[in-house]
Amino acid sequence: MESAGQVIKCKAAVTWGKNAPFSIEEIEVAPPKAHEVRIKMIATGICRSDHHSIEGKFSSVKFPVIVGHEGVGIVESIGEGVKDIKPGDKVIPLVTPQCGQCQCCKDPRANRCLTIKLERQYGLMADGTSRFTCRGKQIYHFLNTSTFTEYTVVEEIAVAKIDDTATMDSVCLIGCAFSTGYGSVINTAKVHPGSTCVIFGLGGIGLAVIMGCKIAGAGRIIGVDVNPDKFDKAKELGATECINPKDYDKPVAQVIVEQTGGGVDYAFECVGHAETMLAALHSSHFAYGTTVIIGVSASTLSCDPMILLSGRTLKSSMLGAFGQS
Ligand SMILES: NC(=O)c1ccc[n+]([C@@H]2O[C@H](COP(=O)([O-])OP(=O)(O)OC[C@H]3O[C@@H](n4cnc5c(N)ncnc54)[C@H](O)[C@@H]3O)[C@@H](O)[C@H]2O)c1
Ligand SMILES: [Zn+2]
Ligand SMILES: [Zn+2]
Repeated sequence: MESAGQVIKCKAAVTWGKNAPFSIEEIEVAPPKAHEVRIKMIATGICRSDHHSIEGKFSSVKFPVIVGHEGVGIVESIGEGVKDIKPGDKVIPLVTPQCGQCQCCKDPRANRCLTIKLERQYGLMADGTSRFTCRGKQIYHFLNTSTFTEYTVVEEIAVAKIDDTATMDSVCLIGCAFSTGYGSVINTAKVHPGSTCVIFGLGGIGLAVIMGCKIAGAGRIIGVDVNPDKFDKAKELGATECINPKDYDKPVAQVIVEQTGGGVDYAFECVGHAETMLAALHSSHFAYGTTVIIGVSASTLSCDPMILLSGRTLKSSMLGAFGQS
């Protein structure tokens, strides 16, 4: 392409500081260096984790930053030494790439690479610099991806090549929401056919959990949300029933335990609050229930150890635990 090797000027949503609104700016995107690729973004989703980051929940996020991590695009140009990706390829940037060489990548129990960490060197590329500038200032990268821009630069291993016929405005969800929710069911909880599942929070993650539970053959899939507008979509995707905690004058966990004859086999927390994490745990069967925390919370989780000692299991899932077995 003509632009290869040149700085590209384009539009991006820059967040200048904690809790600052998105500012649509003209930015400069430098050409990819060795083992990097520059991508023309076509579509991106918005995940609650983008919002948590802008709120300053993660100390690894540095401002000014371009957030967004659930995108899809077309490779515009490649840096020196890039072998498996070429200009024109449709790709999904990866939040948790795998180098395939480090101790974590080689261990089937882990899906967290030690070479390219999620926190990604505090928003800089491997050489300690950024590829983004705006109004003369360096702009930080985010979660190895930064998708709220017309062009982004990522590591060669931080892209997955996808089918040429993929529908771009929906396939972007594989970058986070779908993979996270679906993988939490299949890879982390390992939901079994006929089981009863409850999902707290029916946003992008919770809906993907519902899809996973349906595919795994769960018998009852109970959606929980304080916003009843979420129920139609949840039922369309596989929820067999939905509960609004505001409709009851007792804790929602108690309602679920009563309605399921002792508690669910699998509970998923997809809100990001310590209270809903505990509610999920308490709604799981005391002797064999499994709870998977997916939501991100900055608060401390505290509970009576007897809740677990009775036989419950508490797990968490990062980006759907792909790469783990
Ligand atoms: N573990 C991971 O790898 C991973 C990946 C992506 C997102 N996340 C986290 O997962 C969480 C969900 O993300 P999302 O994008 O689906 O968020 P979202 O904001 O789209 O959805 C959250 C839902 O929870 C509902 N809710 C709020 N308070 C509630 C309560 N007290 N009880 C029941 N429902 C309640 C909201 O109405 C909303 O529908 C966030 O914390 C996000 O940061 C984690
Ligand atoms: Zn996300
Ligand atoms: Zn690795």
